[in-house]
Amino acid sequence: MNHSKQPAWLDNAVFYEIYPQSFYDTNADGIGDFQGIIDKLDYIADLGCNAIWLNPCFASPFGDAGYDVSDYYTAAPRYGTNADLKRLFDAVHKRDMHLLLDLVPGHTSVEHKWFQESMKAEKNEYTDRYVWTDSVWEEPQGMGCLRGISARDGSCAINFFSNQPALNYGFYNPRRPWQQSMDDEGPKATLAELKNIMRFWLQMGCDGFRVDMAGSLVKHDEDGKGTIKLWQNIRDFLDKEFPDAAMVSEWGEPDKSLAGGFHMDFLLHFGSSHYNALFRCNKPYFSKTGEGSAREFIAKYKENLQKTNGRGLMCIPSGNHDMDRLSRKLDTDEMKIAFAFLLSMPGAPFIYYGDEIGMRYVENLTSVEGGYNRTGSRSPMQWDKSVNAGFSDAPAEKLYIPLDSAADRPDAASQLADESSLRSEVRRLISLRLQNKALQSHAEIAFVQEGYPLVYTRKCDTQQITVILNPAAKEAVVENVSGKLLYTVGGEVTLKNGKCVIGGCSAGFVEN
Ligand code: NOJ
Repeated sequence: MNHSKQPAWLDNAVFYEIYPQSFYDTNADGIGDFQGIIDKLDYIADLGCNAIWLNPCFASPFGDAGYDVSDYYTAAPRYGTNADLKRLFDAVHKRDMHLLLDLVPGHTSVEHKWFQESMKAEKNEYTDRYVWTDSVWEEPQGMGCLRGISARDGSCAINFFSNQPALNYGFYNPRRPWQQSMDDEGPKATLAELKNIMRFWLQMGCDGFRVDMAGSLVKHDEDGKGTIKLWQNIRDFLDKEFPDAAMVSEWGEPDKSLAGGFHMDFLLHFGSSHYNALFRCNKPYFSKTGEGSAREFIAKYKENLQKTNGRGLMCIPSGNHDMDRLSRKLDTDEMKIAFAFLLSMPGAPFIYYGDEIGMRYVENLTSVEGGYNRTGSRSPMQWDKSVNAGFSDAPAEKLYIPLDSAADRPDAASQLADESSLRSEVRRLISLRLQNKALQSHAEIAFVQEGYPLVYTRKCDTQQITVILNPAAKEAVVENVSGKLLYTVGGEVTLKNGKCVIGGCSAGFVEN
C-alpha cells in the first residue's frame, strides 16, 4: 500500500461543498460567480469550515452542470476569469482556508477540441485521446457509446452521459486490436496532459482536487489494478512537484483509492456503502421512529477499516449535488443528531451548501443542465428573507434554478441569529471537532454498541472521546461510560456512576 504523506491541514479539515451556479450571484445574471464565493467566505469561516470543494468551474457547454469540460485551462466565463479564480484562491488562503477544485479526468464534453479532432478521419494528435473502436459497427463492450456522428469509422466509448466521451488511459488487458494498453502512446499522452492540467491549477494556487469518478479511468480493469497504478504514477508526480496537494477521490472503495495515493475517499450514496440507510431511505437510522438500522453501514465501514489497515479515511458527506437533500427525510432535530455523527467520524466531513440550514429538496422541477432528479438539490442558496432569498438581484424568472417557494423556507440570516437553529448547532459541533483532536480525521474509531443508541470511541495519542448517539425518540441507558461530559445535543444527557442516561433524539460526547 502506498502511504504517501498527508498534507497536515487535512487532519482537521472540515469541507464546505459549493455548487457555484447556486451559491451567490454578484452580477445579477441569475447565476452564482467567483466574486459571490469571495463575498461569502466569511460566512463559511464563521460556520467553522476551513476548506472548500468547488464543483467544476471550467469552460463547458453545461450538459452535465460542468462535468462536461470543453477547456480544462479556462474558467467558465459565467463565473469569471482565471484571474478571478486566482483571486478566490488568494482570498481563501488569506483566511487560512484551503480549496479543492473538481478534476474530471474520465471524460470531456463532446465540444472539447480534442474530441472534435478525434472524430476526424485523418490521423492527428488526438486520434487516440478517446476510447474508439475501429469500426462503427463494433460497440465498446460494457461502456455505451457515441456513433454515427463522425467521419472517422468507429464508435467512441462514453463514461457517463452520452455527451461525455471517455478519455483513453488504456485497457488493463487489451483483447481487441483497437484496445490500447496503458503503455501505448495515446494513453501515455492523455496521462501527461492530465498532469499538465493539475500542474496548471496547482501552480495558480489551488490546494488539490476532488477527483470525479476516479476509479473509472483504465478500462476493463475489474479489480482496479490498472487504475491504481495510474494514480500511483500521478502520486509520484505530486510528491515531486506539489507534496502539499490534497487528493480526495470519488471512488467508493478506499482500499483501492488509498493504494492509488489518494489521501481520502468519499463514501458514496450508491454502491455498497449502505450510506442511504442512515439518512435517505424509508426508515433512515437517524429518524426518531427508531426503526432504522445502521448495522449494514457499520459492517461495511469496519470492512473498509480493515482493508485500509485502520486508515479508513472515508469522507462522509452531509449530501452533495447528486443526492436528495438531507432534510427530505429528516426534521431539524433529527438532522442535529445526524450532524453530530457526520462531524465526529474519521475522514474529513463535507457539508453541502445549504445543508447547514436544512435547505429543502425542491420538488417537481424541470431538469436544469443535466440535473434531472438532482435539480431539486441544486437550488439557490437561501441567504436571507430579502428578494430571491438574497441570492441574486436578477428577476426571479432568470434564476438558474427556481428557489424553494415555501413561505417558511429556511435562511442563513435567521438561523445565524438563533442559538437553537440547525446552523448554530452545526457551528458548535464543528468547533467541538476542531478543539478535540480525538474527533478529527485521523484519530482511530472503535464501535462499542450498535442499534439505538450508537456508541463509538475516537482515540488519538493524547485523547479519547466516546460518542453516544440516540436518534430514536425513546430515552436510553448506556453502561460502562465514564469521564467528563464534553458536549450534548438535543435532550438531557446525564453521566453518573459509569452510566449514561441519554434522552430521545440526543447526542453526548464524553471525554474518557
Ligand atoms: C459524478 C458527479 O458528482 C456527477 O455530478 C456527474 O454527473 C458525474 N460524476 C459525471 O461526471
